[in-house]
Amino acid sequence: MLRVLVCVSGGGTNLQALIDAVENGQIADTKIVRVISNNKGAYALSRAAQHCIEGVCISPKDFADREAFNEAFLQAVDEAAPDLIVLAGFLVVIPPQMIQKYRNRILNIHPSLIPSFCGTGYYGLKVHEKALERGVKVTGATVHFVDEGTDTGPIVLQKAVEIQAGDTPESLQRRVMEEAEWILLPKAVELFAQGRIIVENGRTVIAE
Ligand code: GAR
Repeated sequence: MLRVLVCVSGGGTNLQALIDAVENGQIADTKIVRVISNNKGAYALSRAAQHCIEGVCISPKDFADREAFNEAFLQAVDEAAPDLIVLAGFLVVIPPQMIQKYRNRILNIHPSLIPSFCGTGYYGLKVHEKALERGVKVTGATVHFVDEGTDTGPIVLQKAVEIQAGDTPESLQRRVMEEAEWILLPKAVELFAQGRIIVENGRTVIAE
């Protein structure tokens, strides 16, 4: 049984895609053991509760400094004894100790084709605003392992999505979620659960 911990900050549609994939059997022999949010009001926590998944809120606002937050966050992660951690729209910088401890066991979903429109300051709707501003014709989503950089870790899966005339950041965000994110993230967890993601020299190979 693969123990998965999911970290969220907002609406949790990617968390929902994972819950659905576990419940419908696409991701076999896997349990989402805990959801951690940095934001008490995140709708993602309600989604977890609706599916009897333990939700925990750890907000940097409740700690004196970043070090104290990082310590509490890492403790909440370790307590869940996860085999895999998924960042599903988690807008907090992951503590370096955690990256080291869970190397190639933390997956992140990013709403663009990395290395475009990623790195510091590129999150959520901003990514789509920048893509439209630049006038690209194709964007998409990427699932990658988390390393010490921002959006620089080994890429696991990517899917392209075409920009349409009249797209707004909101319409593009929705289409990237529907056509790419909600498919890619469950697929990546499925591949991980099957032990098929091999990391070599900063790149991944998917075993047949
Ligand atoms: C998703 O589009 C995800 O790719 C993005 O935040 C959104 C969360 O939506 N993540 C980032 O931008 C990370 N840099 P959700 O809460 O509905 O899953």
